[in-house]
Amino acid sequence: MASPSGEALGNRKGRPYDFIASAFLFLRLHSFQNQLNVKACLFDLDGVLVDTAVFHFQAWRRLARDLGFDFTEHQNEQLKGISRMESLERILAWGGVTLSDGEKNRWAAVKNEWYLHLVRQMTPVDVLPGAREFLNDCRDAGLKTALGSASKNARLILENTDLLRYFDAVIDGTHTSRSKPDPEVFLLGAEKLGVAPATCVVFEDAVAGVEAAHRGGMKAVGVGSPTVLAEAEMVIPGFIGFSVERLQTL
Ligand code: BG6
Ligand code: MG
Repeated sequence: MASPSGEALGNRKGRPYDFIASAFLFLRLHSFQNQLNVKACLFDLDGVLVDTAVFHFQAWRRLARDLGFDFTEHQNEQLKGISRMESLERILAWGGVTLSDGEKNRWAAVKNEWYLHLVRQMTPVDVLPGAREFLNDCRDAGLKTALGSASKNARLILENTDLLRYFDAVIDGTHTSRSKPDPEVFLLGAEKLGVAPATCVVFEDAVAGVEAAHRGGMKAVGVGSPTVLAEAEMVIPGFIGFSVERLQTL
């Protein structure tokens, strides 16, 4: 937040209480930021900011059924945070199906088309409750923000939901060569933001993502079930009621 300029002071001559309130907020946010070890928040996308984890599950399940088998929601947890081709390999192994590389590429493209059909219908109302407000709070508090997603469709989703403008850096599946739990995506995010990994907090809905944060030397806030995300430093059901002040308790 910029400090009040002389001109702004002049404009506020008739409204001293407004000026005092703004100055108080400015000092409060800055003293809060100084006390905090956290300098940046890194966000996974699918299942954290938007409910696309469900779309991935639906599209993968349709593929499995077309190939003559099925898999459970419990197995699906293992696909969260994992790249498209790695997800396909795991699903084929569950079904005991062997395909040539050409067939794998074709099925991955078909799955992506089914998935994109759902993604293209997304609008700003599809952002998960409280997520946009929390991103705003991070920025007001002077924290840097980055996206750290395995998805090659991340930018399209951020654009459709009007989330792109909340990020100082976007790292997605087009920038990485290693899937979570490798920390590559988050380490690239910290580097792009110019902050030390130890000062970053990662928000994740995937077990692999929590492990990636830890392997990168970062803390993790799990978004979802405390049973599934037991390794995270803190688990929240969603962003409603969550505030930057609570990062201090990590
Ligand atoms: C991750 C999802 O964010 O992105 C995975 O958790 C998904 O389920 C991966 O497979 C890759 O996404 P995409 O959009 O590139 O197929
Ligand atoms: Mg996710």
